[in-house]
Amino acid sequence: MTKILVIHGPNLNLLGKREPDIYGKFSLDDINKKIKKLAKEKKVAVDFLQSNHEGEIVDAIGSSPKKYDAIVINPAAYTHTSVAIRDAVASIDIPVVEVHLSNIYRREEFRHKSLVAAAATGQISGFGVNSYLLGLLAAIEITNR
Ligand code: DQA
Repeated sequence: MTKILVIHGPNLNLLGKREPDIYGKFSLDDINKKIKKLAKEKKVAVDFLQSNHEGEIVDAIGSSPKKYDAIVINPAAYTHTSVAIRDAVASIDIPVVEVHLSNIYRREEFRHKSLVAAAATGQISGFGVNSYLLGLLAAIEITNR
């Protein structure tokens, strides 16, 4: 069975309470439940990691090819700052789909640049919870190619 790792970066544990006008009313648990439901329908397995720590995310990406067929990642604020996460994504040979709840290109200028995007397989930004679901579908599609 195809196995996909979903990584949620910093502050996404606060979803639901955190700037709901931008990020929506769903908690991280709600989002994970929706991802799990879609994964079940598509007959793939998903694991989740939420971390506020750059190194922990780097470790998870680096060790993922042993356990997973693809990654869906919302690097959150690290999107815009982390060369280490970008390099980790570039170091592995499984597909990586970058997702964002908000459309980062419509927001503050510092969010317009993703360091991760050029190393990722592709990016989905601006569809709220559906960014994750579309990201999961993209990851499934690409692993079935
Ligand atoms: C985010 C966008 C980032 O700019 C921000 O730092 C986040 C969440 C999104 O999902 O829209 O924490 O990745």
